[in-house]
Amino acid sequence: MAHPKVTVIGAGNVGATTAQRIAEAGLADVVLVDIVEGLPQGKALDMAEAAPVMGHDMHIVGTNDSADTADSDVIVVTSGLARQPGMSRDDLLSKNAGIVRSVVSQAAKHSPEAVLIIVTNPLDAMCHVALEASGLPPERVIGMAGVLDTARFRTFIAQELEVSVTNVDAFVLGGHGDTMVPLPRYSTVGGVPITELLPSERIERLVTRTRNGGAEIVALLKTGSAYYAPAASTYQMVDAILGDRHRILPCAALLQGQYGARDLFVGVPVQLGRRGIEKIIEIELLPDEATAFAASADSVKQLVTRMAELAAEAKAAG
Ligand SMILES: NC(=O)c1ccc[n+]([C@@H]2O[C@H](COP(=O)([O-])OP(=O)(O)OC[C@H]3O[C@@H](n4cnc5c(N)ncnc54)[C@H](O)[C@@H]3O)[C@@H](O)[C@H]2O)c1
Repeated sequence: MAHPKVTVIGAGNVGATTAQRIAEAGLADVVLVDIVEGLPQGKALDMAEAAPVMGHDMHIVGTNDSADTADSDVIVVTSGLARQPGMSRDDLLSKNAGIVRSVVSQAAKHSPEAVLIIVTNPLDAMCHVALEASGLPPERVIGMAGVLDTARFRTFIAQELEVSVTNVDAFVLGGHGDTMVPLPRYSTVGGVPITELLPSERIERLVTRTRNGGAEIVALLKTGSAYYAPAASTYQMVDAILGDRHRILPCAALLQGQYGARDLFVGVPVQLGRRGIEKIIEIELLPDEATAFAASADSVKQLVTRMAELAAEAKAAG
C-alpha cells in the first residue's frame, strides 16, 4: 500500500525537524520544500541516509518545485522568517504574509484534497492568509500553536510538582502569543486540577512562563527560535489527521460564533481526524476567562486588520 504523503514547506529548523519526526515514526513519505536551492535536497538526502539506521522505509525528497508536492494528504507550512531576539511576532507580519500567500496558493493547487497545518508566525494571522490563498474549506486549514503552548505549560507543571509529564494535561485557549489564556482549572495532574495542588501565586508564575515560552528560548538561543517542541507538536497534529484518530487537541481554528468570536482564527480545543477539524469543542468560561479570551481574540483581529492595511498600502505603492 502506498504511504501517505506529507509536504513540509520550509526546510529550516522547524520544517526539517518535523520532516525527520514524520519519516522516522513511519507516518508518511515526506516532500521537503524550500526556496533556497540545494537546502531541501541536502537535508532530505541526509535524512534518507539515516533511514537504514533508524529502520524505516519512508521516502524523503527535497525540492524547490511545488509540482513535486502534488497529491499530498497533509501540507505543513513553516516557511518564513523566524523571530530574532527583540523582534516581536507582529514585526514578522507583512513579510511572512507574502511568503505564506505564495507557497499556500501553489501547494493547494497541486493538492486540493490536503489538510493544511500552518506553523509560520504570527500564527493566527497566517491562518487567515492561508485560508484565503488556498481556497480550502476552513476545517482543512488549522494552525499549530496550542499543542506547543500546552506542552510548555505541562512541562513547567511537571517540573514544579516533580511528577511525570505524562501525568500532566493542560488547557490553553486563545491566540498564540502574549495574550494566550491558560486555564488552570482544566489543567490536571493524574486527573486532579492543579488548583488543588498548587497555590495561586505559583500557578501564576507557571502561566507567565508559558506565555513567554517562545521568548525564553529566543533569548537563550540568541539566533533563531524554538524548533524541537514546535516540530513535535506539529507531528502530533499530522499523526492525529493521518491516523484519523479523532483526537482532541488545542489548535487555531476559524471560529464562526463559538466563544463569541466570528471569522477569526483563535486557539480552541478541536477534534482532529482524516478530514481535518471534525468538531470545535466549546466550554463554558468563567467571567475572567471570557474577558481574557475576548482580549486574545481582539489582538488577532487587530493583526488581521493591520495585515489588510499593509497589503492595501503595498498595492497602492505599486
Ligand atoms: N506556531 C508556532 O508555535 C511556531 C513555533 C516555532 C516557530 N514558528 C514559526 O515557524 C517559522 C519557521 O521557523 P524556523 O525556526 O524553522 O525558521 P528557519 O529560518 O529555520 O526556516 C524557515 C525556512 O523557510 C524558508 N523560506 C522562506 N521563504 C520561503 C518560500 N517562499 N518558499 C519556501 N521556503 C521559504 C527559508 O529559506 C528557511 O529555510 C517562523 O515563522 C517561526 O516564527 C511557529
